[in-house]
Amino acid sequence: MKNMCECSDQRNPAKTGRRKFLNRLWVFLGCLATLELGWLTISILKSRQANKQSDTKERTITAGNIIDYSPNTVTAIPRGQFYLACLQDGSFLALSRTCTHLGCSIPWDNGEQKFICPCHGSTFDIKGEVLTPPATRALDSYPLKIENGEIRVNIGRSEKRLDNGKPRSVKA
Ligand code: FES
Repeated sequence: MKNMCECSDQRNPAKTGRRKFLNRLWVFLGCLATLELGWLTISILKSRQANKQSDTKERTITAGNIIDYSPNTVTAIPRGQFYLACLQDGSFLALSRTCTHLGCSIPWDNGEQKFICPCHGSTFDIKGEVLTPPATRALDSYPLKIENGEIRVNIGRSEKRLDNGKPRSVKA
C-alpha cells in the first residue's frame, strides 16, 4: 500500500507539491499559534504585574481634621471603607472594616464600645484587638499620617497585625 502511494506521488508531481505546501502551511500555522500563545501569556503576566503595582501604590485620602474627632470615638469613613478610631490619648488608628475571621463586614457598636462581627460573634476593641474569638488576629490597619492637622490615610495597602496588638496609632 505504501509503495503504491509513493508510486502514485512520483507519478503525480502536482499531488506532491500540494502535500509539501500543506505541510509548510501546518508548520507556519503552528508557529503562528505558538507566537500568539506566547504574546497572550506575556500580556497576562504584564497586566497582573501592573495590577500588583497599582495595588501597592499610595492611594491617600483625607479623613478630615483632628479637631473633628473626640477621644474614644470610632467614625466610619465610607469613602475609604475603613474606620477612624480616635483613641483616649488623642492618637488615631485607621482600621479595616473586614473581620479577620472569615471576612465579614464588621460594624462598630457605640453602646458596647466595640466592634461586633454579625457572622460568628468575634469582638474587637477600639484598637482593633481581639476581645472574643473565633477571630484570632487584630483588625488590619492602614498607614496614616497627620499633616497640618489633616488626617491622611493610605488606603492602598492594609497592614496585618499578626501579633494581635501593637497598634500603630499616630498622634498629632
Ligand atoms: S467572620 Fe467575623 S467572626 Fe467569623
